[in-house]
Amino acid sequence: MTQSYPKVTVVGAGNVGASTALLLLLKNIANVVMIDVAEGVAKGKALDLMHMRSNELFGPSIIGTSDYLDTANSNLVVITAGLPRKPGMTREDLIDINASIVRSVLEAALPVSPEACYLIVTNPLDVLTNMAAQLVDLPPARLIGMGGVLDTSRFVYAIARETGASPSEIDALVIGAHGEAMVPLPSLATVRGEPLLELVDEAALDRIVEATVQGGAEIVRLLETGSAFYAPASSNVKMIEAILGDTGAVYSSCARLQGEYGISDVSLCVPAALGKSGVLKIEELKLSENELLQLQASAQSVKEQVSRIKND
Ligand code: LAC
Repeated sequence: MTQSYPKVTVVGAGNVGASTALLLLLKNIANVVMIDVAEGVAKGKALDLMHMRSNELFGPSIIGTSDYLDTANSNLVVITAGLPRKPGMTREDLIDINASIVRSVLEAALPVSPEACYLIVTNPLDVLTNMAAQLVDLPPARLIGMGGVLDTSRFVYAIARETGASPSEIDALVIGAHGEAMVPLPSLATVRGEPLLELVDEAALDRIVEATVQGGAEIVRLLETGSAFYAPASSNVKMIEAILGDTGAVYSSCARLQGEYGISDVSLCVPAALGKSGVLKIEELKLSENELLQLQASAQSVKEQVSRIKND
């Protein structure tokens, strides 16, 4: 019996894009169109992935292309195209070049998939999600950035290492901008239902926060020629699964704020319920005064960076 799958376009056939495609196939989530200006790379990786099918017996299929007509009527478009960081660079150093890439992707993808949800992954993703919100005429709920899920995955890993608990026993969240100014929330984190702050001392907590905030930069330093891609891809797929499956799962997502947390007209990572129409609802957590100030500072910094993007 042939099953029908939703259609996901993955823009960018680099490490993040191809790993996202791989997981979408292995988890039987969607048919994938992988598009890249380097047509051979998109086609080659798609063919390589299709060769896996006889081993892994996944249902959906993938094609590679450089033609946006092939992406038409996607349910979701995930944008990973852009340059990654080099050692010593911050995500923000990539703004102008990646802004022009994301702009041209949206101009090409949106006319052929006007009903899709758009997931922005290209860094600095919060700045680019905000730029996109100003640029395109999409309901804000359908324009989402991936960042908080990845930061949360690093936070949970660091907590697991310090406490010996398994990730499934940990409930924790990182919100704010996906950068040095991210806001891990140790005060709300629990391990086997117990508050994290009662289980670890201050030195351990500092190590956890440092490993969370610096996790991406550490990978950039170790790889020397690129940035993380397995955990970013898995974070994309976690969000895509919730959106396409209309599950309402709540994940830290870069979503449009309109008054929540005292912030307006900015997209920032906050807990958001995800479903078919994108962000279904933003959850307002009870933050400490300090956490709220950090979040508002993140919003201000993202706003300033968006206003400095060069428009060429
Ligand atoms: C990271 C990059 C991909 O956090 O933003 O690893």
